[in-house]
Amino acid sequence: MRFYVETLGCQMNKLDSELVAGLLGQLGYQPVTDVAEADVTILNTCSVRDHAEQKALSRLGHFNHLRKKNGTPAIIAVMGCFAQRSPELIRNKAPFVDIICGPAELHELGRLISQSLLQRKADQKVSAKIAVSDFRKIRSGQEALCDELESLDVQRPMVGEGFQRFVRVQRGCDNFCSYCVVPFARGPECSRPVDHILEEVRRIDRTGCKEITLLGQTVSSYCQDHQGQKVGLAELLCLVHESCSIPRIRFITSYPADFSPAIFEAMAELPRLCPYLHLPAQHGSDRMLKLMNRRYTIKQYLDLLEQGRRIVPNLSIAGDFIVGFPTETQDDHQQSIELLEKVRYKNCFIFKYSIRPGTLAAGKYTPEQEIPEEIKSARHSEMLQVQDRIANEDNQTMVGKIVEVLVEGTSKKNRADKQTLSQLVGRTVEDKIVIFDGLETITGTITKVRIQSASSLTLFGEVV
Ligand code: 5AD
Ligand code: SF4
Repeated sequence: MRFYVETLGCQMNKLDSELVAGLLGQLGYQPVTDVAEADVTILNTCSVRDHAEQKALSRLGHFNHLRKKNGTPAIIAVMGCFAQRSPELIRNKAPFVDIICGPAELHELGRLISQSLLQRKADQKVSAKIAVSDFRKIRSGQEALCDELESLDVQRPMVGEGFQRFVRVQRGCDNFCSYCVVPFARGPECSRPVDHILEEVRRIDRTGCKEITLLGQTVSSYCQDHQGQKVGLAELLCLVHESCSIPRIRFITSYPADFSPAIFEAMAELPRLCPYLHLPAQHGSDRMLKLMNRRYTIKQYLDLLEQGRRIVPNLSIAGDFIVGFPTETQDDHQQSIELLEKVRYKNCFIFKYSIRPGTLAAGKYTPEQEIPEEIKSARHSEMLQVQDRIANEDNQTMVGKIVEVLVEGTSKKNRADKQTLSQLVGRTVEDKIVIFDGLETITGTITKVRIQSASSLTLFGEVV
């Protein structure tokens, strides 16, 4: 049996897809890269904005179209945040889907797929199978998160590209930012045991991996007991650093209100911990932050970054912003622009607010309080323009410098050729993207590159 997995959304989804591919591999299924060849087609979905859900539905329509063309129709499974958030909506808009499986039920996916394939083989109708979690019961203590979910991470067989790996350190989120679907789609925050994380890191290290990224929705609040001590993110980073020789260690994403300065100290002291921080502010106005249910003020956010830059002089900061949250005034918007100017992010993800059913902000505001699409778009492009100018200015200061780049592969597939030079793409420790010519065979190595020119998102250089 052959399976195809397509992943939409964030790094957490990429890791989940890798785990599912590993699980199916262990069950004897073969991965394919062409969906038309698959007996089982899996779509890993995102729900963070409406656009992501529409994209998922359109991909599912495409998969269904292919399946109709084929002799034996493939089993179609939907996993990820959209599966958990709205199984009914998926059933409604894509009634041909066979399996719907939420992120906290992934350990069930292998069984559901085998059952569906058996039904198909026996010429029976494949019954719809839905595995989603009841997070309300889990949050109220009536039910526990399943241990089998943890074993999926513990037993991961490390499939796919090996020089960059993700390691989950946390599941879920309890912050309930008023716009965000994640606490409903991924459930309560829970930190994985230190031993499990370190063992996974050691296993990854033995494969010769060059970069690991510790993953959590709010990694900065990591907290576990370990050998009689409380371990927070700073301590975890020290333990990870001590347990491996992987050249680059990163972590995403941090939440400003629970970010401990000890994490900056760890960055300054641990040579293989990258000086890179993804610390979303989401907005530049205290009034909006309050409505968004974010637990910090802009002053606290700026003070934290100032402290970070003092302790880690080459600290590179990435952020997220939402424009057009209900009641946002021109003045609020101006404060987001000011924050861009003050922080000078390495890069920023700027999103137009999208109402997510079931979140705290959905249903709280009247239609008049919602921001019209044209205003959202205008504010969005203004933010992008400002950020683009800043990043461009800062990148120009890199010209002439030599940087160490982890080569991720070719930037344009059509130029890839083992004998001649290809256009390669890689990243610096600060997570800056670098493009340069080189042999494709140096993919996965760390190479010195002299920067010759720069744009807002990319540095261009030559191998030294
Ligand atoms: N609308 C727009 N952007 C959102 N994000 C989360 N929820 C929404 C929403 N409803 C953004 C936040 C978050 C990033 C992953 O997505 O900026 O940090
Ligand atoms: Fe969503 Fe806020 Fe949790 Fe991030 S911290 S996942 S924005 S609820």
